[in-house]
Amino acid sequence: FSSSSAMAAAIKNVTVIGGGLMGSGIAQVAAQTGHQVTIVEVNEGALKKAQDGIEKSLQRVTKKLYKDKPAEGEKFIKETLSRLKTSLDVKEAVKNTDIVIEAVVENLDLKHKLFSSIDSIAPEHTIFASNTSSLSIQDIASVTKRKDRFGGLHFFNPVPVMKLLEVIRIPETSDETYEKMMAWGKALGKTTITCKDTPGFVVNRLLVPLLAESVRMLERGDATARDIDTAMKLGAGYPMGPLELADYVGNDTTKFILDVSRAVASWSKASCLELVLQNVLWFESLWGKKFSYEISAS
Ligand code: CAA
Ligand code: NAD
Repeated sequence: FSSSSAMAAAIKNVTVIGGGLMGSGIAQVAAQTGHQVTIVEVNEGALKKAQDGIEKSLQRVTKKLYKDKPAEGEKFIKETLSRLKTSLDVKEAVKNTDIVIEAVVENLDLKHKLFSSIDSIAPEHTIFASNTSSLSIQDIASVTKRKDRFGGLHFFNPVPVMKLLEVIRIPETSDETYEKMMAWGKALGKTTITCKDTPGFVVNRLLVPLLAESVRMLERGDATARDIDTAMKLGAGYPMGPLELADYVGNDTTKFILDVSRAVASWSKASCLELVLQNVLWFESLWGKKFSYEISAS
């Protein structure tokens, strides 16, 4: 492989495991950009929900892309949907795939079970990637024998709209795998950035403490939920307030991420605790007085 386009062309068949909020978005964008995609879910109801969500989102994307060309828009929708398949059988779905993107719930045991069940079935060349928000890619990859073909591809919600893709390599990720992941990200129309396998990568390391602090502000009764959200939209230029965003990400997913961050904070000196302390120091300098505060084990 010598060029970026040759690298991107190496990935034609895509398997997305988990067709929820993120998996359905990833599958949609991959199908929109010409890839053959299979979404794997746990039951027919979940597959139907994923398909319905994709159709709705595709309508919105098409309206924008083909504003004055309805016939071309119809063709784009038809062709995109024709590239999407669904499956309830993960082992069958990975038999002829170039990349597996795992987007199931944020639970290490579940991700381990999934990857270990397909490691010996997927073709040798197949890249495994996780869309985890907060778990260590190295931990997730530990159950497989293809660590050189393993990495993190962290998309953002809503996937058809958000332009960023974080590409995470672990020490074992080969240069070829890394280059294929970067090239594929670009082929999906995303801007890629690279980050080490570090808690929260770039975006969540900075964003999630903000979400957590907004919940604490609400709990302390400092301001109403509406005023916290309005403040960050109008005072800091965020498209959504932090409480609205936590809900948009999914309060369950936000809680999973916080649980992982808390576990990480106990061994990483530079995690949430440090960010909280930095905030306290900043407020002290702003207010010109010392605050007394307690940090509980939880
Ligand atoms: N599919 C397709 N198009 C969509 C869409 C979707 N699901 N959601 C919104 N859009 C499109 C709309 O059709 C609209 O298009 P036009 O400009 O052509 O009208 C455009 O996006 C804007 O949408 P809206 O007018 O409905 O609303 P908005 O201006 O408030 O934008 C938003 C919606 C893009 C979601 C915006 O509010 C936003 O950027 N919010 C913050 C999202 C964010 O921070 N995401 C990252 C979360 S963190 C994460 O994902 C990582 C993690 O691990 C947790
Ligand atoms: P979600 O709950 O919307 O979707 C998860 C889906 O996985 C569900 O539809 C569930 O039925 C399916 N699933 C569970 N077990 C499965 C299995 N064994 N096989 C196939 N499918 C299975 O969650 P989500 O928000 O899409 O998050 C998925 C992953 O993406 C998580 O790791 C999360 O941390 C990460 N992520 C989430 C966001 C976000 O904003 N929500 C953003 C970036 C990354």
